[in-house]
Amino acid sequence: MTRAISLHDVSKTYTRGVRVVDQLSLDIAPGEFLVLLGPSGCGKSTVLRMIAGLEDIDEGLLFLDGEYGNDLPPSDRDMAMVFQNFALYPSMTSRDNIGFPLRIESPGADPAPRVDATARMLGIEDLLDRFPAQLSGGERQRVAMGRAIARHPSAFLMDEPLSNLDAKLRNRLRAEISRLTRELGVTTVYVTHDQSEAMSLGDRVAVLRGGVLQQVGSPRTVYSLPSNVFVAAFIGTPRINLLRGLVRAPLDGAMTISLGKQFLRLPEPLCLDHQLLRVQQGREVIVGLRSEAVRIAKPSAARTGEVVLTGLVEHLEFQGHEVLVHFDTGSRPAVVADLEAPRPRPDGRPSRRRRRGGTVLDRLRGRAGALRAGPVVTTDPSAPDPAPDSAEPRLPGDLIVRTTPDLEPPAGHAGAAAGRPRPPLRLRPERRTDLPQPGAAARPGRVTPAYGSPLAR
Ligand SMILES: Nc1ncnc2c1ncn2[C@@H]1O[C@H](COP(=O)(O)OP(=O)(O)OP(=O)(O)O)[C@@H](O)[C@H]1O
Ligand SMILES: [Mg+2]
Repeated sequence: MTRAISLHDVSKTYTRGVRVVDQLSLDIAPGEFLVLLGPSGCGKSTVLRMIAGLEDIDEGLLFLDGEYGNDLPPSDRDMAMVFQNFALYPSMTSRDNIGFPLRIESPGADPAPRVDATARMLGIEDLLDRFPAQLSGGERQRVAMGRAIARHPSAFLMDEPLSNLDAKLRNRLRAEISRLTRELGVTTVYVTHDQSEAMSLGDRVAVLRGGVLQQVGSPRTVYSLPSNVFVAAFIGTPRINLLRGLVRAPLDGAMTISLGKQFLRLPEPLCLDHQLLRVQQGREVIVGLRSEAVRIAKPSAARTGEVVLTGLVEHLEFQGHEVLVHFDTGSRPAVVADLEAPRPRPDGRPSRRRRRGGTVLDRLRGRAGALRAGPVVTTDPSAPDPAPDSAEPRLPGDLIVRTTPDLEPPAGHAGAAAGRPRPPLRLRPERRTDLPQPGAAARPGRVTPAYGSPLAR
């Protein structure tokens, strides 16, 4: 039987009073594949270990199928864990490794039929008589998966099970995990810091930062309607463009966001989110632009509802199926703290400022869905000024735009991060009307909308 898992305001404190998980609430439905996503050290493994019973819950409640479960011993939770480091017994063959938990659970029973069936499911029949030292990393991870599956647990808890593998193998095993867990219909909690893994595997993704839940939703929702700047920046490759701007909202004129050397005139009639920006008059905001929400074209070709930005090409990244064009638009990129490695504050409390809903604008924005209505504009009090010693690598340009691979680099382009600036080009953040609504069926073969306009010279 597959299992419902509920966490209610669960917290965990290790040494020196540092809260590494802070009032986490999550309801995981039976059969659901939930991914816990966040940067290193944000508390993902701790959450998983508390669900497994390997770590005490300091505060809050755990319910398993609606029953209070805080004090249930791990062996009574009927959950199977798969770890990053495979954790196989070196002196046992694959067959014995897979059969070991079965022999512990039912000492009298013959584990062979279940071991064989599991091996068939995973395509590892020919590896059953080998020892872990005689297996490749991917094969070892399959055996570790086999050990979890053979038990027929009511939930899988997987802690970065693929991160020791090379990229190709990771992709293959990712697809296998997705197929297997769906076939088995077993509730799965999967920990990763890799956002693309989270997006491709999860029914829902829960994003953690410094032990605090930022957002939980379908991959489509966390991408297109992030609840704050951190989620927007953590999810998506290339990372969302975040530009620091200043709101100009004259009572009798068009609303604009000043980006330093140029400005964004907000498309009229103003959508609800942009109307709400009036109260931010004179204040600094962060403008978020996904790289596929911008197209490259001559300014004269601007369509209704589009706003124009001018930029210099600094760098081109050829990716095969697309080209990423790095522009310098003369604006200041916003730096988002904690994207790589958040640290709880030494006083033991993760920053409260980020906890619940952020500013008024953040809350209203979440309701209205700004990302489908043009440039996303938000405020984030936690975003500091770019520091010279910032851990975030400085990319060339301040605006990355996706375009089709038929784009030719401008003549004389050095192709390096320090490439010489090119003549001005005109950009338009495009009004997005073509994104499927959250929950709508994905159209096969169409993951990222492509804007095919050739580079204007
Ligand atoms: N047993 C422990 N004693 C003290 N601190 C701990 C212990 N285990 C984890 N921590 C701390 O708790 C925080 C969260 O750790 P956790 O392992 O849950 O993070 P994570 O999100 O899984 O990170 P990673 O992606 O690097 O595995 C970290 O700051 C870590 O140093
Ligand atoms: Mg971990």
